[in-house]
Amino acid sequence: MTPLPKNALMLAPMVGITNRAFRTLVAELGGPDRYVTEMASAEAFYSHAQYEDCYTDARPAPAATSVQFYARSEAAMEAACRELGRRDEALRPDGIDLNFGCSAPHIRKSGGGSAWSEDPEGAAALVAAARSAWPGTLSAKLRMGPDDDYPRLLDFCAGLAAAGLDFITLHPRTDSQKFKRRARHDITARLARDLAIPVVANGDIGSAEAARGLFAGGAGAVMLGREAVRRPWIFAVLRAELSGAEPLAGRPIDRLSVAGQPLDRLAVALRFLELDAAFLPEKWQLETARRFFDYYCEPLSFAHHIKYRTMNSPSLGAMRSTLEEYFGQVPADLAIADREIAYR
Ligand SMILES: Cc1cc2nc3c(=O)[nH]c(=O)nc-3n(C[C@H](O)[C@H](O)[C@H](O)COP(=O)(O)O)c2cc1C
Repeated sequence: MTPLPKNALMLAPMVGITNRAFRTLVAELGGPDRYVTEMASAEAFYSHAQYEDCYTDARPAPAATSVQFYARSEAAMEAACRELGRRDEALRPDGIDLNFGCSAPHIRKSGGGSAWSEDPEGAAALVAAARSAWPGTLSAKLRMGPDDDYPRLLDFCAGLAAAGLDFITLHPRTDSQKFKRRARHDITARLARDLAIPVVANGDIGSAEAARGLFAGGAGAVMLGREAVRRPWIFAVLRAELSGAEPLAGRPIDRLSVAGQPLDRLAVALRFLELDAAFLPEKWQLETARRFFDYYCEPLSFAHHIKYRTMNSPSLGAMRSTLEEYFGQVPADLAIADREIAYR
């Protein structure tokens, strides 16, 4: 088990996005201290269903990655944890993260994800089952639950912590809020104060100022999801800004490059397409690229136009041409500088 480094930066699990290709891109651009894979079904994994090795592939940094599982039963979680422990050491992830937060109807209906918030004892038993089968880092990620009742949330989290977690990530929105309203980081700070294990803050974090505030409020780490898709270089920028080692020779971003090319938004986009084609099963490639560009293109001047065009590209090659054409027509969007602080 690797202890969470102080004030760690983490990349969030995102279905269809946080796979090996995206994590490699983020790693090449500076990378976080820890990664979490997109969620995988514990049942499907231990039954060796198709693609489960891809969902749980911990590269490029297995020693700094947790594989996220959701499960509806202790037996399934225990079996998946044991199975993952049998993986060759070089490819074995450092950690397993348990999903208690997903409120997608098909996951909830199956009894996984946020459905556990209605069964605190069962959720704690799920953690204990994972702990019994997995000697590495063990964490959990959750939302606030059905409402913002803090004592209920604290009881729930304390039960999970006592069952053997090393840390817990809170995305402080209720299950039904999706991304509406701002994340309630006042709740994150209370939980960090009241819980015996580190609390990772997640939700709407996109700047060093926000991260600094959360660390000061007691968060053990900050985890970024969507903002890391909009700006896959963000961890290098945050690390430089948080280290206080200013003034830097140029902005942190100027010190990065992809595939030997100076960093601009087109170079990053094309590198992503290369990694997508190199590392993902063919069946995933187009859908993954569409999901990636849906966020990546958000800060661009003509975001709707380019999102629509990439969404409707019939192949990775067509997507590449579309992007080259767009940046040829709107060269001002190539520059990362202009958009650096566009969000938050
Ligand atoms: C496309 C997408 C897929 C997601 N998939 C997962 C997932 O597999 N497991 C999980 O725990 N959270 C998942 N989340 C939630 C994120 O990990 C994170 O909690 C949320 O996006 C808030 O963080 P952010 O504001 O930094 O994006 C997903 C979010 C998005 C946008």
